[in-house]
Amino acid sequence: MTAPSETRGPSSVASHPVLTVENLSIDYLVDPVVHAVQDVSLELRRGEVLGLAGESGCGKSTLAYGIVRLLKPPAAITAGRAVFHSREGTDIDWGRLGPEELRATRWDKISMVFQGAMNSLNPVITVREQLEDVFVTHRPEMSKEERRRRCGDLLERVGVDRGRLRAFPHELSGGMRQRVMIAMALALEPQVMIMDEPTTALDVVVQREILREITRLRDELGFAVVFITHDLPLLLEISDRIAVMRGGRIVETGAAADLYRDPQHEYTRRLLASFPSLTGDRGGFIRGDVDERLLAQDAVRTEAAPSAPTTEGRVS
Ligand SMILES: Nc1ncnc2c1ncn2[C@@H]1O[C@H](COP(=O)(O)OP(=O)(O)OP(=O)(O)O)[C@@H](O)[C@H]1O
Ligand SMILES: [Mg+2]
Repeated sequence: MTAPSETRGPSSVASHPVLTVENLSIDYLVDPVVHAVQDVSLELRRGEVLGLAGESGCGKSTLAYGIVRLLKPPAAITAGRAVFHSREGTDIDWGRLGPEELRATRWDKISMVFQGAMNSLNPVITVREQLEDVFVTHRPEMSKEERRRRCGDLLERVGVDRGRLRAFPHELSGGMRQRVMIAMALALEPQVMIMDEPTTALDVVVQREILREITRLRDELGFAVVFITHDLPLLLEISDRIAVMRGGRIVETGAAADLYRDPQHEYTRRLLASFPSLTGDRGGFIRGDVDERLLAQDAVRTEAAPSAPTTEGRVS
């Protein structure tokens, strides 16, 4: 296996934060109260991929929804805040925005691809209309022609033929639907994308293709990503830094390579050890040499299963 590479982002990665989460706490006000997120502080730097790892139920999705204020009762933010730092130098505290401002800012500055997102496409509306809807809502001044052109461009950007604009969601594979969701999240060229298990329901070949696409788009467009999954090997491949979450708290944050080679927290060590594939040639899973390895893996897998089916609807 290739020698371990240093963790690094693309050349566009600067140390300036684009999003700061400060001491955020979120409870589910049920009996007994669930302290789902406890005093979480995080910094997302411009253009980086920050992986958020942790076992099921540790609070990853709650944190993601909390950052963009999409929580519904019984969830309640009990402390802390999330601040978006715009390229223009303005700070936007999400907690201080009114409902309208929040709606406008949300998709424009920070977009999301949520767990099982591909199943949230409206089944009776074409892909074109659903994509166009983002522009109609957020760019009302845009002409119809421009909108149509942009929608086609977006689909192609995520590797789906623009001819599919006329399709209804059920006519697409699970992988294609997930790509449509990613296209939708890219539509307004946000500076941050929060992706919560964006590929978990997909078979491994499609998952790899989409991950490569996300990495390529990130390099090209320079947005930052919070990438959430319980799949630690995958996170180690695509992340610049990783935060490990347990029981609602961040227990360790570090560069992916450091976290892999020299985990500081006992829980991180256990998490790493729970993936047998990680315990072999240490260092081989870190980004850098990943593209070559993925290509090799995919070639082997594709040979073994030339028409690997997608696992539609299998959402964790
Ligand atoms: N609506 C709710 N009411 C009460 N408790 C909830 C609710 N939603 C989530 N929880 C609890 O909050 C905690 C965090 O859940 P969350 O969905 O954020 O975890 P997660 O890390 O995203 O898990 P997974 O990897 O399975 O998606 C869990 O203990 C969960 O049971
Ligand atoms: Mg979740």
